Amino acid sequence: MGFRVEWTTIPYLSRFVNDKPATHDHNHFRARFKAAIAEGAALPKPNEKEAKRSQQLAALIRDRIKAQGDLITFAKFMETALYEPGLGYYVAENIIFGAEGDFLTAPEISDLFGICIARQCTQVLQQINNGNILEIGAGSGVLAATILNDLAKHDSLPDKYFILERSERLRDKQLETIKNNAGSFADRVQWLSQLPESFTGVIIGNEILDALPVKRFIINENNFHELCVATQNGEFTWTQGSPLPLASHRLGKNKFPQGYVSEINPAAEEFTKSIVNCLDTGIALFFDYGYPRTEYYLPDRQDGTLMCYYRHRTHNNPFTLPGLQDITSFIDFTAIAESAVSAGADVLGYTSQAGFLMSMGLDQLMAEKSNIDSEQVQDVKKHLEMSQAVQKLTLPHEMGELIKVIALGKNTEQPLTGFLLQDRRHRL
Ligand SMILES: C[S@@+](CC[C@H](N)C(=O)[O-])C[C@H]1O[C@@H](n2cnc3c(N)ncnc32)[C@H](O)[C@@H]1O
Repeated sequence: MGFRVEWTTIPYLSRFVNDKPATHDHNHFRARFKAAIAEGAALPKPNEKEAKRSQQLAALIRDRIKAQGDLITFAKFMETALYEPGLGYYVAENIIFGAEGDFLTAPEISDLFGICIARQCTQVLQQINNGNILEIGAGSGVLAATILNDLAKHDSLPDKYFILERSERLRDKQLETIKNNAGSFADRVQWLSQLPESFTGVIIGNEILDALPVKRFIINENNFHELCVATQNGEFTWTQGSPLPLASHRLGKNKFPQGYVSEINPAAEEFTKSIVNCLDTGIALFFDYGYPRTEYYLPDRQDGTLMCYYRHRTHNNPFTLPGLQDITSFIDFTAIAESAVSAGADVLGYTSQAGFLMSMGLDQLMAEKSNIDSEQVQDVKKHLEMSQAVQKLTLPHEMGELIKVIALGKNTEQPLTGFLLQDRRHRL
């Protein structure tokens, strides 16, 4: 099966593309991609060391494909490309986050994002006894540092800030960031190697669900088949695998065009269940690119939502530069809600990132921070930077609408501040 590759050259890209919900001007993005292609944009070349690592990883995947009878599932390919020890994207020595890396996430864009989350943590922690925080997939550690600083400022630090991080290299990076930016509270941070058996407090995950390996499927004559990865002349290629009953059971009644491709993410669903199982009292708050199911599987979103990120370029070819680029796909938040409820949690809120941040008082926080003297060039510059960051976090065609927030709760039913202005649970 062929695939279409689109490059963009938008600088310092947040992960905001491949959008097609009714509320957005999808053609605007398409037009921008096309312009980039017309300009002849291409991916930058990796350096020699990186290219060698990528080739090593590609060779290993090819060997595994051969050993598995000439094909592996796409989920297996994605898992290996992202997490293969020593070689995968999240575990090897490469810069991932920020201007020097491949993409920006919300906590990297502005500390206002983390401050809003810290305020939500405070509300919950004030109402339960002995609650702590557990962050899953903490990236560079910048969100942890921001939250710790804000909680300390308001005298509401919990005893422990736990981090569950799969990548050893990122654990080191997180420790460094926390020591440098929230050093006085570093002794409260503890890394875990697995989820605790029981947890009370607030669990936070920003862009963790979309980093879990997805299953891709193709619909031919109303039959759902898993898309797998094979090799042809030494290159990776898509190939049709076995029927995928989970997808047909879930989506079989919908009308899709022939050859429709999309994803389901059982790994994210299982992960959600494990989180709910370990949560005794408190909430879990997940932020991610995604839609409710009815908006995810639109008939005209024929290529699904799979996206790859390399040095602030985005495209949809997961087979290029394995180990050097991130691979991700949007989240079906209906599936996350269903998994959470089946494991015994309540869905306490669901909204857009913009809705959450505004409910947490982002405008007021911004006003407090922009204590500017218009005579001072430095102040004006800072204010402009902050305005741009807030736009990225909240504008509908940036992260504001494409990223959603879901709150899952156990033994707590208090209305959460982050969903007071806008709660879209009815759309799930
Ligand atoms: C897209 S990054 C997001 C990082 C960070 N939350 C941020 O917003 O900048 C995904 C993070 O999840 C981590 N991760 C992926 N799978 C994980 C798992 N099963 N358990 C814990 N961390 C995981 C990755 O190593 C990485 O730190």
